[in-house]
Amino acid sequence: MQAERLSPIGPPEPAAAVPVMDVIAGLSRALDITEGHPTGHAARSCVIGMRLAQACGLDETALADLFHALLLKDVGCSSNAARVHQLAGGRDHEVKRSVWMTDWRSWPEKIAHSLAWVGRGEPLGRRLGRLAHLAWLGPRAEQEIFQIRCDRGAAIALDLGLSRTTAEAIRAMDEHWDGGGQPARLRGNAIPLAAQIIGIAQVIEIFWQQHGVEAARAVVRRRRRRWFSPELSRLALALLDDAALWRALGDVASIELLHDVAPAPAMLRVTEAHLDRIVDAFAGVIDAKSPYTHDHSRRVADYAVAAAARLGFSGARLVRLRRAALLHDIGKLGVSNSILDKPGALSAEEWQAMRGHTRHTLEILDAVPIFRELAVDAAAHHERLNGTGYHLGLRGAALTPSARVLAVADVTDALRSDRPYRAGLEVERVVAMLGDDAASGKMCPQSVAAMTEVLRA
Ligand SMILES: [Fe+2]
Ligand SMILES: [Fe+2]
Repeated sequence: MQAERLSPIGPPEPAAAVPVMDVIAGLSRALDITEGHPTGHAARSCVIGMRLAQACGLDETALADLFHALLLKDVGCSSNAARVHQLAGGRDHEVKRSVWMTDWRSWPEKIAHSLAWVGRGEPLGRRLGRLAHLAWLGPRAEQEIFQIRCDRGAAIALDLGLSRTTAEAIRAMDEHWDGGGQPARLRGNAIPLAAQIIGIAQVIEIFWQQHGVEAARAVVRRRRRRWFSPELSRLALALLDDAALWRALGDVASIELLHDVAPAPAMLRVTEAHLDRIVDAFAGVIDAKSPYTHDHSRRVADYAVAAAARLGFSGARLVRLRRAALLHDIGKLGVSNSILDKPGALSAEEWQAMRGHTRHTLEILDAVPIFRELAVDAAAHHERLNGTGYHLGLRGAALTPSARVLAVADVTDALRSDRPYRAGLEVERVVAMLGDDAASGKMCPQSVAAMTEVLRA
């Protein structure tokens, strides 16, 4: 087997040299694409929210809790994507983004939004059926969608080792000052202040990013006393007068601005154990996107590590492979559930979008310095040794031993798992199919031999 090739992008920074916040901020870009927001939305919302929190006079502990809640506010959003698609049809990213551009509590806006987006692109009869179903569900549909996202987001925050305050801020971030929000219809100061800050920061970011400062100012005024408290609205309007901030948010990579507002605990160096915890949590976010990928990333990691250990991988190399395996499909967060969950064959256009998930994986991981080295291997899991894979069409020596064993692990889990159109395949059938792929030059024979041992063990 050839020696491990150095990544063309450059070596990773050692874990000890990277602040926790750089890892979380980097991965928050994956949450942006899941929710249909332009890249950097979470980071910019974080800067806006932290500036508001400073104006509110929050103490150091509260600032640290809020900082992580702002960056990870959408960490539960992959969990409701399948349900959004099931109810509304169309592309879940576009539907979700469009909801954020409306006042979803205003009936005229709600009806106009439903007519524009529900069942978009589908035959008239199907669209009418969806509208009737949503009308029958009434507020239950809205409540269910928010509940999934908020509960899951809070649970993941706790999995990440963040505080209960952070988790509760994420759970309550869509509650509104007058009691008309979701999911618990909390009112006034029963809503944690951190949640109120997230709520106003994200709306300001969305309107500012889409239409500029005046639009952000207008939305704060329109929703003052309904969505937002009078005091937070006042502070937000004052912040919108800070021209230097909005110029900086438009010009500078958000990560630099984040360093300016990050509280001390977020600047602590990430440990290897913490990094594993973050990666494990994000594997859960990835796998929650579609019911058909439940636990896929975790199983691929187990298969990859078991096979690689038989090939002599150990220590840091094995750790890196495990992380690459856990994150290999992070780009699927950018693919619509209309494609991921489609029971039938994909059209050419849909197939092209599906194949784009490895490009998203490369872009997301390459933007997080500590994951730069594993980005190429993680994104190469659909490449094939004979150049017939995607998305780059890499071949032979361009594929490292890690990439090769990861590709075999990914296929192994796909074949072993149930699909809407077939049950998971028996071990010997999978072994035979992997053997065929090795014989035809697609898969690495050594990796296939190791996986065969794992499967038969
Ligand atoms: Fe994949
Ligand atoms: Fe996969």
